[in-house]
Amino acid sequence: MGFAGRSIISLHDMTAADLEVIMDTSGRIKAGRETGFLQGRTIAVMFFEASTRTRLSFESAIQRSGGTVIGFANPASSSQSKGESFADTISTVTGYCDAMVIRHPVEGSARLASDIASVPVINAGDGANQHPTQTFLDLFTMKESFGRLEGLHIGMLGDLKYGRTVHSLATAMAMFGARMTFISPHTLQMPDMIKRELSQAGVSFREVRQPEEAGDDLDVLYVTRIQRERFGDPQEYESVAHSFRVTADTIRGLGGRVLVMHPLPRVDEIAEDVDRLPNAIYFRQAHNGIPTRQALLGLVTGGLS
Ligand code: NCD
Repeated sequence: MGFAGRSIISLHDMTAADLEVIMDTSGRIKAGRETGFLQGRTIAVMFFEASTRTRLSFESAIQRSGGTVIGFANPASSSQSKGESFADTISTVTGYCDAMVIRHPVEGSARLASDIASVPVINAGDGANQHPTQTFLDLFTMKESFGRLEGLHIGMLGDLKYGRTVHSLATAMAMFGARMTFISPHTLQMPDMIKRELSQAGVSFREVRQPEEAGDDLDVLYVTRIQRERFGDPQEYESVAHSFRVTADTIRGLGGRVLVMHPLPRVDEIAEDVDRLPNAIYFRQAHNGIPTRQALLGLVTGGLS
């Protein structure tokens, strides 16, 4: 399926070929070979939940490609605060733009928006469910680093239960035949639904509790924050908070060549001494949010093909 007019809601709707198109297009943009492709297009960026990187990189991506941004960073400044329904907001804004980017705390909200809107909807994170554009920049960064995704061994560490970035990433890495090791406290394991999907696809994965148990052949250690805002019970959060911390010693213990990624924001799960190591690529990863989001917007609006 082509990209023009298409909503991007979940990795489950995508193929490896789709992901290759996004990575190739991002590479052309990063190399300066595509410009001005959002000229004359207006993109609505609507954030019903906190964000720094995703929102600002989308807005920067739109402006750098010649497009115009409308939207809000906080639902308190939208008519939701007057009691307007989500559906009515979407029915209205669809008439103001050529594509919309939505982040919302409720799982399934981006899918609902795409059912209502007549323009493409991009899911910028729906609750603990999916975060496809984070995965696009994660894949692009790995491919930039290793020249391939096939056969990489990736360790995903942290809150694998509520972390939407790792849910999208696991589905994507499975398409490229990656090996995965899931590293988390018992109560924050990767959801059964995703593990079942991987097993059915014949993808090999292991589950361990601490990074040291992941072996010495990891290519990537993908660290995530414990998603405090998704816990119903603050005590449950306290019982797992600070249960792991990646330090320079952890990296040495993993064989020294592993690349450390993180979708950010970081709380205390990566010590600052890691930042100085060549293994730490999380800020380059965050910066790759620009060409990958430019690529996606160009493709879904038909400005690029
Ligand atoms: C992530 C998110 O919002 O899911 N942040 C991001 O978009 N880079 C990760 C997180 O909040 O922990």
